[in-house]
Amino acid sequence: MKLSTYEPDALPPGARRLSYGLFCWLNRHTTVLRAFGALLRHWPSVGGRLGLAARASAVRDVLTRTRSFSNTAHAANMVSGDYLIGMDPGPTYSADRDLVHARLASLDVPADSDAEAQRRIKALSGRGAGAFDLIEDYLMWVVFHAMRPLFGAATGAVVAGSTTASAQGDVDEGLQRQYMLEIRYVAGQLLAGSLATLDLRRRAEACGDALQARIDRVSGPIGAAWGVKSASEDIERNAVGLAWISHPVTVQSGALIVQELLGRAKVYEELRSKAGKLGEPGVWTDPEFRKIVRNHVLELMRFRPIFPLLARDVPRDTEMETGARYNAGCPGGGKVSLLSIAAMFDPSAVPQSGRFCPDRDWGKNDALRYLMFGYGYRQCPARDHAVEILTSALIGLLTLPRLQLARGEGKAIAYDGPLMLRMRMRTT
Ligand code: HEM
Repeated sequence: MKLSTYEPDALPPGARRLSYGLFCWLNRHTTVLRAFGALLRHWPSVGGRLGLAARASAVRDVLTRTRSFSNTAHAANMVSGDYLIGMDPGPTYSADRDLVHARLASLDVPADSDAEAQRRIKALSGRGAGAFDLIEDYLMWVVFHAMRPLFGAATGAVVAGSTTASAQGDVDEGLQRQYMLEIRYVAGQLLAGSLATLDLRRRAEACGDALQARIDRVSGPIGAAWGVKSASEDIERNAVGLAWISHPVTVQSGALIVQELLGRAKVYEELRSKAGKLGEPGVWTDPEFRKIVRNHVLELMRFRPIFPLLARDVPRDTEMETGARYNAGCPGGGKVSLLSIAAMFDPSAVPQSGRFCPDRDWGKNDALRYLMFGYGYRQCPARDHAVEILTSALIGLLTLPRLQLARGEGKAIAYDGPLMLRMRMRTT
């Protein structure tokens, strides 16, 4: 079997634009990806020849064999330098992993995400215009406030990129917005992958450099806030990584689940009616309702995962169990791709996999329910925090009058490659 080991820069510009366009189109049309995944589940040997795993058992198997299938596949798309997600296990990986766990332990979700969702919803209702941008006026802020403890007392300095007195405490919202734009394109490159056009890659690199420079100026306050005495390069690597990995992916996931929910009018109406019956403050305090919304968040993410595909490097010759009669050979130096979206719809592991079913009993396959966060040892360490934040965000939206995409004045959703930049909404 021949696995692709192409170098992205070797692609002629036309072929790159075409393949990137196709990649973005597939990202937006997950039903097509799912149909492709169903074919590969049926004929796993075909997938094996292309270096693709689609069955739940195969995807799980690759994700748990962390030494044979390496996360370094991400490294080429990390434009602001190395970080945990693209590293192989070792002392640096272990230290960075401990640090991320310690920083995540300082988060206070759902309290912070509830509070910001309530504040933003109140402001949106007060505006009375009935139109707003889901990403720029809402999700960005809910996630930003939930993530503040990651940098603790140094948040102002990080956002301002400065240690002056004016960067202490709460800094201007304009600067906060600028910071969020910068990290968005850095994270965007991880999503866009090596097919991204060179222009996009250059923009991501410029934002990556700016993020590094910003963190470099404030690594003192960050080290103090974290209570660590490590070398400043360790603080910088972790601070840069945490900045871009935490916020944009969660915001994008929020936009994706709202997009999916609005396409399911009946499900949306049922949730709204439950929220309407509970009213304020019940929607925020009723544990049963929160559980229902949380289950919806997970099921909506299954239909619209932000990472429908994951890649792995193959450091040395090995084999992959695709589910076919014979294992697929994976030559060292190549890559494999995992269609996690296909695995999450594998009927042999997920009962009634094609149905939208938030309260499905996953039985012994419960861990698969979280496959949009990866699987096993390398699974997203912020999984539960992110789900809580998105639950808060969705509860807030359910307290608004009925929402729809604001079509009519141009496109409601503005895309930038696989990223959604804006999502204009209207209440009816
Ligand atoms: C809805 C939001 C999020 C989604 C869908 C998500 C998804 C993922 C996925 C799929 C992976 C595994 C990638 C792989 O195996 O190749 C991952 C890893 C990771 N995520 Fe998240 N993530 C989210 C939010 C966050 C947040 C808020 C943080 C903040 C700290 C974070 C930090 C990380 C880190 C550090 C890793 C690397 C873990 C490792 O390699 O050991 N993620 N995430």
